[in-house]
Amino acid sequence: MTDWQAHYARRAGRMGGAEVSELLALAGRPDVISFAGGIPDPSLFPTGAIRAAFDAILAAPREAAEALQYAVPEGDAGLRAWIAEDMGRRGVRCTAANVLVTSGSQQALDIVGKLFISPGETILVGRPTFLGALQAFDAYEPRYEELPGPGSNRGTAEFELRAPDKPKFGYVMPEFENPTGRTLDEAARARLLDFADALDIPLIEDSPYETLRYEGAASPALLAMAAERAEGIEAARVLYLGTFSKSIAPGFRIGWIVGPQPVIRRLALVKQASDIQVSTINQKVMLRVAPEFVPVQAERARPVYRARRDAMLRALRAHMPPGVTWTEPEGGFFVWVTLPEGTDTAALLKRAIADARVGFVPGAAFFPDRSGSNMLRLSFSLTDPTRTEEGIARLAEVVRAA
Ligand SMILES: Cc1ncc(COP(=O)(O)O)c(C=O)c1O
Repeated sequence: MTDWQAHYARRAGRMGGAEVSELLALAGRPDVISFAGGIPDPSLFPTGAIRAAFDAILAAPREAAEALQYAVPEGDAGLRAWIAEDMGRRGVRCTAANVLVTSGSQQALDIVGKLFISPGETILVGRPTFLGALQAFDAYEPRYEELPGPGSNRGTAEFELRAPDKPKFGYVMPEFENPTGRTLDEAARARLLDFADALDIPLIEDSPYETLRYEGAASPALLAMAAERAEGIEAARVLYLGTFSKSIAPGFRIGWIVGPQPVIRRLALVKQASDIQVSTINQKVMLRVAPEFVPVQAERARPVYRARRDAMLRALRAHMPPGVTWTEPEGGFFVWVTLPEGTDTAALLKRAIADARVGFVPGAAFFPDRSGSNMLRLSFSLTDPTRTEEGIARLAEVVRAA
């Protein structure tokens, strides 16, 4: 048998990600009430409209030929123009030339990592942060440091003192962060921009859940605020990552990056080397579906997920023992739970599945140094209120026993 490990590149040692596959496997088991996978409810997908769009495109010979052909890496011109226009909702003024269509925002994270990170360079992320971002960035062998946020008191000084080590960028999810559910208010966003301005580093703004706000008023995107400071997007130092995964359906694998044109052009070349382009036909279908259904789906989905969030928060209040705390998200899919110091949520997960048939994601997966072992992530997106009540009651039993 070949020892494949011996042949892999050095970076392979840092490329984890088994957690994600395990989570999806877990979420699929019918006997487990899973709060693990942060995925949308498929009953909300606009399946009829998607089918009609495929039919219409394939029935028109010229459109069908184009839809089944190779295309440019930047993305479908019509779709880029629609995304540019829709970014106006977030306060961003841009044109199609500022938009790169990507294979979901997951690919956006990968190509950003590929373009910006050399081995050993520092990037700034939250503690915790999105595990898919760590998975994407890990391949480029960065060092991770903590991005200053509301919970930390780091300033620019300590980074400025170590000039050769200047971070390459900061990665942030300003609304309904995965995994914490936390949202930055406008003042916190302004402080983050101050920090990035002082250090002269770009920020990567990842905002996949923005259409799923259940309460409170939206703040402008960081990119919008940065563009206002810089008097236009071309001088702004933020790259915005968006996606149709939560507003339409993740199976399309369509996301986008918005930023200054020179960076967008470079990223398009990086993307081209990896997969040439996003599926042409999927982009054409999305262009027919998105203008009507992005707003319609948001209206349909919000009350459903709001009720599920409320059920989860109610159940946590009713069942969790003292010493357990959790976040109360204004939107998105996630609640972040902190258990007493010394609890090991990876061990807890084994017991929760075996004894109580409930699943969640242990906190360590969201920390670059695999700390956070007394924390866990719950997703409420897939479970109806009755099952959530049942699942949280069972989970609370396991927590109490631990
Ligand atoms: C914060 C964050 N970024 C990016 C992604 C990837 O999404 P996409 O389906 O667009 O690749 C997710 C998906 O869960 C996410 O939570």
